[in-house]
Amino acid sequence: MHTADRILELLYDARGGWLAPEELARRAGPGGGGAELPAGRVTRAIAALRERGQRIESSPAHGLRLVRPARLDAHLIERDLRVNRVGRNVICFDQVDSTNDVVLASAAQSGSDGLAVLAESQRKGRGRLGRRWSSPAGANILMSILLKDPRGVLAHDALTIASGVATAGAVESVCALRCELKWPNDVLIDGAKTAGVLVELHGAGRRASAASGRNIVIGIGVNVNAAPPAGEVDRPATCLADELGHSVERIEVARAMLRGLDQWIEKIARSDLRGLHKAWMDRCGMINRRMAILSEGVRHVGRVIDVSPLEGLALCRDDGSTVWLKACESSVVD
Ligand code: BTN
Repeated sequence: MHTADRILELLYDARGGWLAPEELARRAGPGGGGAELPAGRVTRAIAALRERGQRIESSPAHGLRLVRPARLDAHLIERDLRVNRVGRNVICFDQVDSTNDVVLASAAQSGSDGLAVLAESQRKGRGRLGRRWSSPAGANILMSILLKDPRGVLAHDALTIASGVATAGAVESVCALRCELKWPNDVLIDGAKTAGVLVELHGAGRRASAASGRNIVIGIGVNVNAAPPAGEVDRPATCLADELGHSVERIEVARAMLRGLDQWIEKIARSDLRGLHKAWMDRCGMINRRMAILSEGVRHVGRVIDVSPLEGLALCRDDGSTVWLKACESSVVD
């Protein structure tokens, strides 16, 4: 491991506490406590980390400390993540047009399945239904995951639902906030949107050949430390920091999201969808409510009676008939 990565781990794990340079040199040395690193290597590593955008304060009296929340860092996200597929490789950028485009561009490379791309900001962040997704730089999670699915075993609708469930689960576990899911995958806290998911399917047809490829991009935006600028959204929005009253470590939320997605996607690949249905229902405030849903340009009104990871949302219409509306093609009409 690079010295800078080891020093970053030590500073990050100190949770905003101070560490003396000698202590860092001792703990970053070979064997983690035996031989010390030369002081010059610690100094160079700190300079390299500052160059990578990490804010490291130094005080003659106390030593060094990493300002938390930290800047996104691939090593800190990947470290000890224990995933099989999603998040095996992570890349963090400063600014891109859209993380969905960046991750898709890697599809031709071998080993890119499961790649997660994050950015501090996006120039052209996309939302569902042709909307923009805007987020102040350095505050939130803007993340996309590539899934290569040449045999078409990953059901698009199930992925659409799983992405919202994994995001809600991550927010709940890291922040102890109760999340609700709005069809198909908006994550709400107390009625205000805090995360959204855009799943894009690329490649010929739902069952493309291995040669033509079938790539799925899951793009997730989570308002962690900043809600979207006033006037840029037409619905109530919030961020995790506002709900908690303190800033939130994006790295921890991103790690929990990757772990959750890895587990759900492994189940979807095995066609085991029972847990996904329950996880969605547990966070669904829509059952038995009368709603208007837009699906492929048609507005359907009725009472929500069920959701299914494969069939979609079941709406009982006023004439008593039931219609199933696919997750990847429908949204609640606000
Ligand atoms: C929505 O409309 O609710 C979906 C928003 C999805 C936003 C994310 S941010 C990361 C990824 N890159 C994009 O351009 N969009 C998605």
